[in-house]
Amino acid sequence: MAEFTLPKNSEYKNTKGKEHKASTEAKNKKSFSVYRWSPDDDENPRLDNYEIDLDKCGPMVLDALIYIKNNIDPTLTFRRSCREGICGSCAMNIDGTNTLACTKAIDECDSKKDVQITPLPHRPVVKDLVPDLNDMYAQYASVEPWLKADSPAPQRERLQSPEDADRLNGHDGHGPAMCILCYCCTTSCPSYWWNGDKYLGPSTLLQASRWIDDTRDEATGERLDDLEDPFKLYRCHTIMNCTSTCPKGLNPAKEIANIKKKIAERQH
Ligand code: SF4
Ligand code: SF4
Ligand code: FES
Repeated sequence: MAEFTLPKNSEYKNTKGKEHKASTEAKNKKSFSVYRWSPDDDENPRLDNYEIDLDKCGPMVLDALIYIKNNIDPTLTFRRSCREGICGSCAMNIDGTNTLACTKAIDECDSKKDVQITPLPHRPVVKDLVPDLNDMYAQYASVEPWLKADSPAPQRERLQSPEDADRLNGHDGHGPAMCILCYCCTTSCPSYWWNGDKYLGPSTLLQASRWIDDTRDEATGERLDDLEDPFKLYRCHTIMNCTSTCPKGLNPAKEIANIKKKIAERQH
């Protein structure tokens, strides 16, 4: 159910954050305003400002966060793992756009403003930049994202032609199998903000489409039956935020249209 009044502890605009200044000798400075909230006290969220010496820091926004954690404030909490756009852990909102901190270069940010970093939007916050994504993981599991086949297993792997594999991987490496489950798309989707308890959202639907179109899978009809539902699928209104924000260049809106088309085709 949509909630139109923000809970008191979700507002940070009126709470003054802490300021951390770089050394006066630093010649190449940049400030980062970072969302802070801890479940361990009763304080409202705030934006802390960290001025850092870019000559001592790597080129990406994730490097700046790691620099802050290692050198200024070890309490800053965020997820990261691969630091090369593969694990999906470092998804967050940077200057108003959901993206991966490890592939977003600091010099792509507005040079005249502080870089503003907040968690992926419209999710409960676990701490600082860590959102609670458990609902989305459960929705992902609900589409049974694995190969389902009743025919006897061959001696070796179930083979697929290069053309069929291309449909999943994409000719240009931007097919649905390249999704890294970062949830930048789902947390940017207005339909998901309002109906996320029932609508599956773009990431999960892209995954569903990937298995529907896998030529080795034998559960296509069952998968389509499960998605033929006014909320799970048809809350997508083709607003396209999902495709615009995907940091891997994938097209979840097209995959959702693919599922709708397959359902429409089998009705005729
Ligand atoms: S196209 Fe559909 S899934 Fe993507 S942002 Fe719009 S409503 Fe959400
Ligand atoms: S489709 Fe793109 S934005 Fe969405 S979860 Fe996959 S990689 Fe992330
Ligand atoms: S740290 Fe893995 S995608 Fe950014």
